[in-house]
Amino acid sequence: RKLEMNISELEKGGYPHFMLKEIFEQPRTITDCIRGRINVKGTNVVLSGILDNKERFLNARRIIFVACGTSWHAGLIGEYLFEDLCGIEVKVEYASEFRYRNPVIHSDDVVIAISQSGETADTLAAIELAKSKGAFVYGICNVVGSSIARATHSGTYIHVGPEIGVASTKAFTGQVTVLVMMAMMLAKMKGLIDEEKYREVLRGLIAMPDNIKEVLDQHEHIQSVASIFTYARNFLYLGRGCNYPTAMEGALKLKEISYIHAEGCPAAEMKHGTIALIDQEMPTIVIATNGSVYEKTISNIQEIKARGGKVIVVVTEGDCIVAEMADYCIWIPKTAECITPLLSSIPLQLFAYYIAVNKGRNVDQPRNLAKSVTVE
Ligand code: G6P
Repeated sequence: RKLEMNISELEKGGYPHFMLKEIFEQPRTITDCIRGRINVKGTNVVLSGILDNKERFLNARRIIFVACGTSWHAGLIGEYLFEDLCGIEVKVEYASEFRYRNPVIHSDDVVIAISQSGETADTLAAIELAKSKGAFVYGICNVVGSSIARATHSGTYIHVGPEIGVASTKAFTGQVTVLVMMAMMLAKMKGLIDEEKYREVLRGLIAMPDNIKEVLDQHEHIQSVASIFTYARNFLYLGRGCNYPTAMEGALKLKEISYIHAEGCPAAEMKHGTIALIDQEMPTIVIATNGSVYEKTISNIQEIKARGGKVIVVVTEGDCIVAEMADYCIWIPKTAECITPLLSSIPLQLFAYYIAVNKGRNVDQPRNLAKSVTVE
């Protein structure tokens, strides 16, 4: 018994929980994910799975993402990336819904299954359905040799190492990193991206580990903000563009490990219903980083403040405008817009973690949840 305890402590590498260890591992896991794929100068990215199936991807009528949970959120980010950068029509499907519908699947569709464990039953069934209709199926998995990795025609591993905490953290950022690399490669092959933007994003990925470290360095500040809000019974998370899925992922993290009800919502959609929930008791986290929808997000913050709501913002370093409007502020370094989710998701992971710890929850094994869901 004693030996078992010690092994578990050793595995946590000095951290109180696997989840915290995995959050802090992200600078290294991103490095592992891009290693051997992006060259040192940041001028080229090669994923062999894409190269080997170049024609399939170039001729893809649509890309259909199938996934569950956190992996589904990564798929939503993939939708922004592939539509914007590669001009391909994208659908994002919950594997559990997709498999029981009679979905239209063409033989020139590319179905991309995203799964950390590679064992999720619904995702596996969605893959088999897509294969039976003649689609090409690509996998984005973490676990090497897993069922989904074997069932797909080809794929890219995220290579972030074993994820033990039930709430997914480093797998999410690994999935998004792979999606960015895929989109960049495809955009280049299609001649849809200029060299300057291509290199900006690749260099952004190379700089990502250092940028994530900067965010992690704020952990004490994030912990103190979390302590102020541990009382809350409901939370709202807002974001726009590719940070809308990030907001949903932040809300999921909080629900999973703290058991606080949380909702992620596209910032502008709030006025169609969710805004009715806003009062002094319902805090909102807004991702308001620099980018094409920055100005719009500011007006969303004003709407919340006008109703007495407390606002925590995640903003780009150097931003004073939003920082002044908000009650609490967390900064992330400046980076290319399409890769901001890799940074904005980090404080949301830490925030959920510290609230759950304050509430005395079993962070690594939250009630009612399993790391991989191999049954329906
Ligand atoms: C479970 C886990 C989630 C995970 C989801 C999909 O619900 O608790 O953290 O996102 O399954 O898992 P997968 O391994 O397919 O990514």
